[in-house]
Amino acid sequence: MFKKTLASTVGAVLLLGMTACGSSDDAGGAAGGSTSGGGDDAITMGFAQVGAESGWRTANTASIQASAEEAGVELQFSDAQQKQANQIQALRSYIQQQVDVIAFSPVVETGWDTVLQEAKRAGIPVILTDRSIDSPDDTLYATFLGSDFVAEGEKAGEWLVEDSAGADQVNVVELQGTTGAAPAIDRKEGFESAIAGADNIEVVASQTGDFTRSGGRQVMEAFLQSQPDIDVVYAHNDDMGLGAIEAIEAAGMVPGEDIKIITVDAVKDGMQALADGKISFIVECNPLLGDQLMELADQVVAGEEVPKRVVVEETTFTQEEAAAALPDRQY
Ligand code: AHR
Repeated sequence: MFKKTLASTVGAVLLLGMTACGSSDDAGGAAGGSTSGGGDDAITMGFAQVGAESGWRTANTASIQASAEEAGVELQFSDAQQKQANQIQALRSYIQQQVDVIAFSPVVETGWDTVLQEAKRAGIPVILTDRSIDSPDDTLYATFLGSDFVAEGEKAGEWLVEDSAGADQVNVVELQGTTGAAPAIDRKEGFESAIAGADNIEVVASQTGDFTRSGGRQVMEAFLQSQPDIDVVYAHNDDMGLGAIEAIEAAGMVPGEDIKIITVDAVKDGMQALADGKISFIVECNPLLGDQLMELADQVVAGEEVPKRVVVEETTFTQEEAAAALPDRQY
């Protein structure tokens, strides 16, 4: 019933070539490999992950690997180290191996049409997880499971508008995610639309920190040099916000008091910093997509109809809410 699950020699060589340039991250051997979850008729899924750039990504990888194991899905996993070329190479390898279904979280929004047409010609359904693509052809994928990033940016902006009511000028510096990535584009757009009506709020500088802690720290250090008066940091994820905290403290200032910080994700480290008063507000982005992904894969491989878009439910956290939620936080 399912296509052959054995990797062809060429496919295996391609995958090995890709992973040989290896990752030194700690995402559980995420540079490549397979987890065997099931028997002879098990679904084989090729999953091309973005990388291991953040706590969110590590939790997302763990969720997918655990859910595959539990669902009896044989998972071929690769880590693109935040490079689109690596991800395209992984997708081609999965096509070569004739996996039953491909899932991936695109590093950036554009440039996928050619490789997805190759998957379509090979009859392999594709599921987008976490991040979507920008393509005029929505037949290139079966469904997209992930957050509403524009809404996340709006929630961050709405909180700031309320918090800044009655204040004079509020200068914001923005730490953007990876250039060209859906969450960076959409969180910027959502935030800008939410603050558009607030004359007292101005984004005075905006630069990418690539969703990493070191990137957030470096960019914040540069902002502290170039911007005379920063009131608020809006970071597109917790890791960059945590990097900004390091830079602010190294400059002799107090995060949360001298400069307020708003982030997105709500991973444990971010929630701890929120409960400690260093971050002022976090918009949740849920990385635990594994179970839903395996269910969708099952349906898609069986030829059943699935919704084209599955949006993940999310909330927001104040400092008090973070302190209450922390003991039960899974990631
Ligand atoms: O695509 C989800 C985003 O990617 C998360 O917010 C961020 O932490 C990750 O790197």
